[in-house]
Parts: sequence; structure tokens; C-alpha cells
Amino acid sequence: MNLPIRPRRNRRTPAIRSLVRETVLTPADFILPLFLHEDEVDPPIASMPGVTRWSLAGLVKEAGEAHALGVPAVVLFPKIGENLKTSDAAECSNDAGLVPRAIRALKAAHPTLCVITDVALDPYNSDGHDGLVRRDEKGGLEILNDETIEVLCEQALCHARAGADIVSPSDMMDGRVAALRSALDAAGFDQVSILSYSAKYASAFYGPFRGALDSAPKEGDKKTYQMDPGNAREAIREILLDEAEGADMILVKPAGPYLDIIRRVRDATPLPVAAYQVSGEYLMIESAAAAGWVDGKAIALESLTGIKRAGADMILTYYAKRAAEWLK
Ligand code: PBG
Repeated sequence: MNLPIRPRRNRRTPAIRSLVRETVLTPADFILPLFLHEDEVDPPIASMPGVTRWSLAGLVKEAGEAHALGVPAVVLFPKIGENLKTSDAAECSNDAGLVPRAIRALKAAHPTLCVITDVALDPYNSDGHDGLVRRDEKGGLEILNDETIEVLCEQALCHARAGADIVSPSDMMDGRVAALRSALDAAGFDQVSILSYSAKYASAFYGPFRGALDSAPKEGDKKTYQMDPGNAREAIREILLDEAEGADMILVKPAGPYLDIIRRVRDATPLPVAAYQVSGEYLMIESAAAAGWVDGKAIALESLTGIKRAGADMILTYYAKRAAEWLK
């Protein structure tokens, strides 16, 4: 054939393919979510096979191993004892609480590790919602916006006092980024960053995570604060607001089923974009691999590559440590 243009020439050898590869995953792309609890044991989490709930000692060791493999950051998710959960979520800003102790232990053991904390009330709230809850006369639930933000500010300040590098509001209340920024600045924490979950969808893909933390809403759902999965323009609206309110980085969640959102957001803001490959995404891969139906390692790396190619600068993934090992 007289065919002067043959795209396959660029795929002919591994060397050429590596020259023309547009998206390359590295361990430096990953943020490892870590679950922790008060106990001294490190049990597997029943709802999330392959994921562990760490003691403080186990947490420090696991974070150190991931960091040594090139993973720059971890994000902490505590399981709070039922006896400490209240309707005002007061435990979230206890300086002697689980999260501040974990931050101090991590920063002491691994000074170069970036420690990110989740700012939301669901682990601490007896109602299992990300915000404070008010019940109206008819028994309906209202998730209070402005009252919640005051508590979130206390929570973020508590994390900052303990040495968190980045606080990460995942609650989806309106106006929380501006409020957190001014609370942090007023307390002298102008170097603490805000990674905002700007476009967080009301997703069934979070199911296994809520099992891991026992943090499922006791009543109702999260649709009055998390976004409708059918909406894309609304994500841009949220991102632009968070940018104007002073977010340092923004986040899209879930990741895999929302690659179009990651791309649109990437094109709409100069801010770094994070994407969260959530528990349900992880478990769909893990369960299919455990059944022998797919090659788990190949599927995981391809999924992560797709998320990065869509425009994510960093990826929160339960595969962070394993993927870093695979990429070595
Ligand atoms: C809640 C929070 C959730 C996740 C991270 N932070 C669950 C929710 O919004 O109900 C989900 C993460 C995952 O599924 O892996 N603040």
C-alpha cells in the first residue's frame, strides 16, 4: 500500500512507545488514605478486603513504608468510638483526640511526609451526617450549613495545631473554604493548605467506606449537600467558588465514573486537581480480580492512568502503596 502516514510506527518498540507516552504514572502522584482507630491491633476491614484499620503504631509504620516507596502524602480517616459520637460532634476538635495524636506521631516519625486530614463531621456525628442535623416538626432532617461551618473551623484548627500540612474539607457545606481560610489565617496557620472536595457526588460508590468507619447516615441520605451524579456544569460552579474562596487544590470524587468531570474541571481552573478513586471503585477491581475474572494489577494501573490522563494531578487511592511497588 502507498501509505505514507502509519501511526503504528510510533508503537513499534518499547523504546519508541516510552518516548511518545503522554501519561506516566509515578508514586509521586498518589495520596494514600489510611484508616485508624484507638485499638492496639491492626485488623483487616471487613467491608474493604485488602485494607487495614491501623493502630497508631501500625499507622506510623504503614505510612513510612508508603513514603519510602515514593508516596508523598497520606490522608487520615478515623473510626471514632460510638461512646464519643454526639449530635454536636464535639470530639472532632479535641486536641487529645485520635486524629491529632496520629498527626503528631506521623510528623515526628516522618518529617517529610505530607499529612492531610479530612474535615467533615460524619465520623464524630451521632447522626452519621457530614454536618450538624436539625429535626423539624414533621420529623424531617435538615443538615445545617452555617452552624456546621463553625464546627468545621474548630476541627481544622485542631488539625493545624497538631501539625497537619493540608486540611481537606469533604463535607460540601457552602462557604466553608472561605471560613476555613480565614480561621486558619487568624490563628497564624497561613501555611496550612486547603484541599477542597469541590465536586463530591452523592455516590453509591462510598458504601464500603461507610462500613469501614461505621459512618453511614442513621437516617436520610446526603443528597442535600453532595452533588447529583447527573450534573457537570454544577461541578464547574463549585470549583470556581472554591477557587475564589482560597482553595489551594480542588478535588473530584469519585474518580473513575467521573472522568469527564475531571477533564472539565482541569480545563476550568489553573489549580491542582485531585481525584479520589473511592472504596467502591477499588472493590470492583479487587473483587473481580479475586474471582479470577480480571488481572487486578493491570486493571488497577490502567484505571489510575485513565484518571491521570483525564487531568488529575494527584490521586487518592487505596492502591497507593501497592501501585508504588508495582511501578518500581
Ligand atoms: C465523608 C467521606 C466519605 C468518603 C470520604 N470522606 C463518605 C461519604 O461522603 O459518605 C468516601 C471515600 C470512599 O468511599 O473511599 N466525609
